[in-house]
This record gives sequence, C-alpha cells and structure tokens, in this order.
Amino acid sequence: MTEQSTLPRERWPNFVNGAWVNGSASPISVLDPATDQEIARQECASAEDVDLAVQAAKRCHQKGEFRHLRPVERGRLVQRMGQYLLDNIDEIASVLCLDAGKPLWEARLEIESAARYFEYYGNQAETLEGRSIPLGGQYYDFTVYEPYGVTAHIIPWNYPLEMSARSISAALATGNTCVVKTPELDPLSVRYIAEAGEHVGLPAGALNILCGYGKEAGAALSGHAEINQLVFTGSVPTGIAIAEAAARNVVPCVLELGGKSAALVFEDADIDALVEDVRWGIFFNAGQVCSALSRLIVHESIYDQVVSRVAEMANSLTVGAGSQFPEFGRNMGAMISRQQRDKAEAMCGRAREAGAIIAAGGQRLEGNGYFLAPTVVAEVTPEMEIARDEVFGPVVAVLKFRTEAEALAIANGTDYGLVGGVYSANVHKAMRVARDMRAGQIFVNEWYAGGVETPFGGYGKSGYGREKGREALFNYVQTKNIGIAIKE
Ligand code: NAI
Ligand code: MG
Repeated sequence: MTEQSTLPRERWPNFVNGAWVNGSASPISVLDPATDQEIARQECASAEDVDLAVQAAKRCHQKGEFRHLRPVERGRLVQRMGQYLLDNIDEIASVLCLDAGKPLWEARLEIESAARYFEYYGNQAETLEGRSIPLGGQYYDFTVYEPYGVTAHIIPWNYPLEMSARSISAALATGNTCVVKTPELDPLSVRYIAEAGEHVGLPAGALNILCGYGKEAGAALSGHAEINQLVFTGSVPTGIAIAEAAARNVVPCVLELGGKSAALVFEDADIDALVEDVRWGIFFNAGQVCSALSRLIVHESIYDQVVSRVAEMANSLTVGAGSQFPEFGRNMGAMISRQQRDKAEAMCGRAREAGAIIAAGGQRLEGNGYFLAPTVVAEVTPEMEIARDEVFGPVVAVLKFRTEAEALAIANGTDYGLVGGVYSANVHKAMRVARDMRAGQIFVNEWYAGGVETPFGGYGKSGYGREKGREALFNYVQTKNIGIAIKE
C-alpha cells in the first residue's frame, strides 16, 4: 500500500442500514490508474450483504418515516446532501483523482455536478402534483404519485460520484429508498454520498451504499426479488443481463448504455469552436464518457483542415497523473484500467490495419500507468470497427461526407443513438439534421449544450428511459388513482 498515506481515510467500508460495515467477500484492492499501485482496500459485498441492504431499504420504506415526510422537508435533506459534498470538495477531489485517474480539476467538476443533482432534484421534491379527473357529480377522482419503494442503482466507473448522485438524488427526492452498488474499479468517492446521508440524518436504511463485483453483488442486486425499480449505466451486454433480471421480477428499469455519437461538420462550421469542442468531447475524462464525441463526420471541402487542426490539438495535450493537474488546461489523465487501455489501443491497431490513418496518438505511453495518447484516427470509413464500436477512450474517428443525406446516413448507421451534434451556420440545415438524427439528444454548434435540467438517454442500443431533467423524476414514481363515490 505504497500511497496509502496520501488518502485522507484508512478504512473504506460499506454503508448499510445506517451503519458502516465490512463486507463478507475479500476486500477489493483499489488501484491508482496513474501508477498501477494499490492505494486502498475497499470492503466488498457478497450476495448476502446485498440482501441485508435490500431488507434494510424495504423496512425503511414500509415504516414510512421517509416516504411520508412532507416533500419540502425531504427536498431539503436531499439538497443538504449536495451541500455536504461541496463542503468537503477538497478531500473528495483528492480521493476521486487518485482512484479514477482523472485530473484534479476534472474531479472537482464531477463533485460540483454531483452536488448540482442534489440541488436540482431536492428542489423538485414538492413539485410532483397529481391530477383531478372529472367524473361528474357523483365522484371525486384524483391521482397521486407514489415512490416505488426499494430502488437499485448499479453505478459505472467513469463518473462514480456523479452517476451515483444523478439517480440517488431523484430517487430520494421522490421518497424511495436506495441500494447502490458502486463500481469495483473506483468505489472510494461514493462513500461521501453515504456520509452526506448520515450527516443530514436520513433514516437508517433509506440509503445503502455497497461496493462489490458486478457478477456477484451487481447480479444479486439486479436479480433481487424485493427491489422495485432499477437504474443501470454501463455496457450493452451487462445492460441486457440486468434487463433480463428485472424482467423476471417484473421491475421497471432505466438503461443507459453508451454510444458512438457523431458530430456532423458542414463546410460553414466555425472550426475554431469545433476544435475546442472536440477537446472536451473526446479528451475530457480520457474519452471515457458515454456521450463522448467519438465520431467526427466532416464535409470533404474542409476535411483535411479539420483533421490537421484536431490532431494538432490532440498533440498539445499533456498526459499524466491527475494530481499533476490542479487547473483546467490542455491536460488529460489515465484510463481507468489496463484492460480498458489495452482494448482501446488494440482498436486503434485494427483501424490502422483496416486502412485508417493514425493522425495523432494511437498507442500507450511508457510507464506503469494506464495512459493512452490522445488519438485521432483519420480516413475512417463507415464499415470499419472504429466507426461502429464504442472505444470508451481518448480516440476520435474522423469520417468524410459529400452530401447532407450521406452525412445523416453515416451518423445513423450504428446500433447506438445516445447523442449527436451538428456544426453549421445555416439554421435550416442544422434543424434538418437535428430532426433526422436518430439520437436522444442533439447539440447544435456546441457539444454538451445542456445540463442537469435536460433529459438524457438513448435511442437504439444506447438504452431506454431518460436520466436528468424533470423527466427522470418519473422513473421513480408510480401513479395511483383514487376514486371517491359521493352517495346521496
Ligand atoms: P460494465 O457494464 O460491466 O460495468 C458497469 C457496472 O455494472 C459496474 O458497477 C459493474 O460492477 C456492474 N456489473 C457488471 N456485470 C454485472 C452483472 N452481471 N450484473 C449486475 N451488474 C454488473 O462495464 P465494464 O466491463 O466496466 O466496461 C466495458 C465497456 O462498457 C466499456 O468499454 C464501455 O464501452 C462500456 N461502459 C459504458 C459506460 C457508460 O457510461 N455508458 C460506463 C462504463 C462502461
Ligand atoms: Mg481505481
């Protein structure tokens, strides 16, 4: 445990039924992706531990102490959880940076986004109003929204804190209880959400946070007969396994499964602005972003110019341990694991063999860390693997088009459909593309235009259901209709 001393806490327990507990499986060795060194040991939940957490969440729900709170009170608790994260941002950022390999400034942004979810959904707790339905003079009839009960959250490693906050905040705001399975690759930061819940005085069992392996703890949670709702973000195969488990228990689930999202760049695009967007779109978090800008589809008249400008930008990034980068700048951290880095590098190699040109990067950096150089792959054609499959790394594929129809056909030609972008000064063209692109969110002239307020989720194999925004609140409630007869 060479760098243990650099972490502010010694013990990384699970949080079940309002108590900090050990797991009954062997602890997980948590690695720093920048050094490949163990930084901590995280307690690891077995299927039995998951069952205890689900039972605690169920008891809390049944007692009603949380779901029967006046919504404004519940909303305030949720908001104060976000404030707790902000109050402890320096400590959390140092942990998240080491655990996930991301630049310190990116870790801080992630914590601010996590806090923002608690603010946003806490704020909405008292806004879910049912309807009154006219049935004539002999009846009153109305609907109410009720929480499902025990919600299960299976969290990916790319934004462990933010993704946990995204679903926990909405589930709690609507009066549900939560069992959260944190990612085994970088679980540490999520502990602070449990601390936040403890700090604001959530009742025991309202929020349970455990780390464990996907195949054991994750499968036990998603297949548990006593959960009432399920949220998952991650890969397509795991999403399918989770949806099957949910189906067997007749439990609704929300699946967010990544993408191969395209920006269509027309001849009248603002190229300076585009290059900055590509910097964010594919090199932020080392490209390990479900909505990454992983395909650039560029008009032939500006293709060479865009490739060389984007390659120049990629080469200008300094890659290194996240702790070296306290400030926003032209820097990038490590990938999450050796396996993910090797997979991305192998895809670059196969792209080259298939006839693509590596215009920047394409290989690992020397040393023990899981670094991949910022990579631009040019002369990509739509049938290549690099144009179709998610890399989930700092790799952008650049394709060429002649006509708008061809651009759209390429953009819509993958199994995914999470987000898409269009860059053009022509509003009609931009709007035609926004209309005809098959994706759940379209960015016009700015990648990631939007925020916590804007609904987010996929078409096609990118999943179903929506996270974020007001729409996501309705993932966590079911409608009850109450009819009252008036007798003369
Ligand atoms: P994964 O989908 O296996 O892991 C995501 C989460 O699911 C983790 O918490 C994991 O423990 C859990 N999990 C794994 N197997 C499970 C099972 N059978 N039942 C219940 N839970 C289970 O993703 P992985 O293997 O870490 O990454 C592989 C690829 O997935 C990446 O290269 C990327 O393409 C994609 N991915 C997409 C993400 C997104 O944001 N959409 C996030 C993470 C990965
Ligand atoms: Mg780690």
